Amino acid sequence: MILIMKRIYISILLTLGFLTSQSQTNSLPIGRAGEGLYLDINAPLEERVEDALSRMTLEEKVKMTHAQSKFSSAGVPRLGIPDVWMSDGPHGVRPEVLWDEWKQAGWTNDSCVCFPALTCLAASWDPQLGILYGGSLGEEAVYRGKTMMLGPGVNINRTPLNGRNFEYMGEDPYLASRIVVPYIEGLQSKGVAACVKHFALNNQEHERYSTNVILSDRALYEIYLPAFKAAVQEAKTIGIMPSYNLFENQQCGHNKRLLLDILKGEWKFDGVAVSDWGAVHSTEEAANNGLDMEFGTGTDGLSTGTKNAYDSYYLALPYLKGLKEGKYSVEGLNDKVRRILRFVFRTSMSGKRGYGSFCSDEHYAAARKIGAEGIVLLKNDRGLLPLSATVHRDLSAPVRRDSSRRPSLLIVGENAIKMLTVGGGSSNLKVQHETTPLDGIRERFSKDFDITFCRGYVGDTTGEYDGVITGQNLEDNRTPSELINEAVAAARKADYVIFIGGLNKKWNQDCEGADRLSYSLPYGQDALIEALASANKNLVVVSISGNAYQMPWVSRVPSVLQCWFLGSEAGHSIADVLSGDVNPSGHLPYTWYSTLEQCGAHAEGEYPGTKRADSNIWDENYNEDIFVGYRYVDKKKLTPTFPFGHGLSYTQFKIGKASVSSSVMNESVTVSVPVTNIGKVEGSEVVQLYVSDVKSTLPRPVRELKGFAKVKLQPGETKTATITLTRDALAFFNPQRHEWQVEPGKFQLYIGNSSRNLASPIKITVE
Ligand code: BGC
Repeated sequence: MILIMKRIYISILLTLGFLTSQSQTNSLPIGRAGEGLYLDINAPLEERVEDALSRMTLEEKVKMTHAQSKFSSAGVPRLGIPDVWMSDGPHGVRPEVLWDEWKQAGWTNDSCVCFPALTCLAASWDPQLGILYGGSLGEEAVYRGKTMMLGPGVNINRTPLNGRNFEYMGEDPYLASRIVVPYIEGLQSKGVAACVKHFALNNQEHERYSTNVILSDRALYEIYLPAFKAAVQEAKTIGIMPSYNLFENQQCGHNKRLLLDILKGEWKFDGVAVSDWGAVHSTEEAANNGLDMEFGTGTDGLSTGTKNAYDSYYLALPYLKGLKEGKYSVEGLNDKVRRILRFVFRTSMSGKRGYGSFCSDEHYAAARKIGAEGIVLLKNDRGLLPLSATVHRDLSAPVRRDSSRRPSLLIVGENAIKMLTVGGGSSNLKVQHETTPLDGIRERFSKDFDITFCRGYVGDTTGEYDGVITGQNLEDNRTPSELINEAVAAARKADYVIFIGGLNKKWNQDCEGADRLSYSLPYGQDALIEALASANKNLVVVSISGNAYQMPWVSRVPSVLQCWFLGSEAGHSIADVLSGDVNPSGHLPYTWYSTLEQCGAHAEGEYPGTKRADSNIWDENYNEDIFVGYRYVDKKKLTPTFPFGHGLSYTQFKIGKASVSSSVMNESVTVSVPVTNIGKVEGSEVVQLYVSDVKSTLPRPVRELKGFAKVKLQPGETKTATITLTRDALAFFNPQRHEWQVEPGKFQLYIGNSSRNLASPIKITVE
């Protein structure tokens, strides 16, 4: 009966023209047949695009090119083309804000899972985790109805003062490329677009709207662009977000060289360039220089006299007017709309998009796993970690263990109890759940240890960011010396002390909108750590940050664990590593300078730039050129606190003698190297391959990362890591010829487990 009624209903719809017979066979009903949008989702993409475009009015096209609310833009209801919904990005799906205000919408069903910060993902050196990350986030985004996630970010860590480095993937273009590609592939496989950002040269937050970056083409192509290029050409990112700053005296939001010449010209990008929020400043440039969608422009609907503030956007009525007057080309508009249609057809109208899932057990498990895999064991003298209730590691410790009592564990520091998913700028999240480090440690260790907590220092007690409220009350009115004295007294009595501090996501820390003011730890933490180190030799420093900082106490602390901002499962990931349930295998994605002067941008480059006398523009010369991160410390033979690529394990590995498939490079060579776990527990090693050009017409870095492999090994097991090196990996960018060039001659291949722990090189020749 139901079936008969359904058939009658369908035939009525067909008669009335609401469905076509085509839609019955192999496609979704999209729009009404009367309007004639090409309905077959299996038709070639470009045919669908041309069909839709041919049916749109000028007004409908223009509407698609700019926002209609804080995070959405219009579709074409008449043709059944849905609105586009954006969301930050990049660590979880942002809570909803009001239609036309930044205020929280106050929904109760948008509390998400926060995944670890992208620095952590990069520190895992594991592309497979990129797929897991992107895929999990994609499911959350689809569930929330998002068409595009505003991320990931791949701006190169040029200075550790950049407040936004935690959202990026470190200092090396090769590592960032290898991690960004699977993240985007995972995300887009769920039917939601990525929007890789911020294109380009947004390497600091200080004066981010008005810094004009000046650099050589070599630095641009060799250091700052490769991760974007990989996102475009390998991962096929659907979106890219031009940045706020200027390049060659033109706003990146509509920068002809970046968007038209490089992105759409050289790289043949066929997706959408989505402005950063408020990064558009001119209708003419936005119309002509390759920007496709305008978002976040500050408008004042009242004073411009329009009913709708969004009509005042540069790409709204002013654009429409110019098009009608023949000032802007309709073909230029069509190009933008084709890209937006491709974007929609590849996502919400792809027919491949599922329903997603939100705050699932799988997503929490993914967050926990990625967090634990990205944690870097920077130092572990005396094998103090993993924490063990039964092994007393240092008999000279001030407190001798009395075996008749339970061992005691003192936790000190604000980051042990602070929710760090809240804060940081646009990546600020409202989470369904966050396990703090102290919660995670209590859960894992209470059965074996008596655990106490001392605050130690007071940092940021606000408990609120952009209307997202943690609900935590972190107020503590005691003086710094009272807090230190309490912690030191407790440390004297404890068997182990774990200090959990670092940076947080407050303004001038690891936060969008401003840079850090100093390379030192804030809130008097250095003095506290020194005092704890004097009080107890069994001290572990758990550092939570997105950036490196000065560690004047590092030689006095036996164990240091770099833990990043780990998101919802922070406490579990940290406890997994402290306990040894997970053997740490992360490696640094950037150089941990001992002082700021070791960083090329500060020693030779310009930071933060120089303000022009006659305008608000700050010119910033990247004089350090291609010598960013380890490329600078290697060139200057400096010793950083921890080098790029460094990371220890609870087991030991022997990296054996490497061999190469051929000593002559034609198209590629394969490097094979046996790796053995010579310790007692399972673990993973990251085998890294650096290339050095023995003689070159242009100055080149001492060595550059060009390959790596993460190998998991049981105790006693040996596996062969293989890394294929293509000829391109040996190239430099020749600015005169404007092309990548491989010079014949000798190259050396260095293999090891950090940029400073490398075996003697293998020589190859390029003929
Ligand atoms: C940030 C972007 C972000 C956008 C939307 C901007 O201020 O720079 O990264 O996606 O806001 O929130």
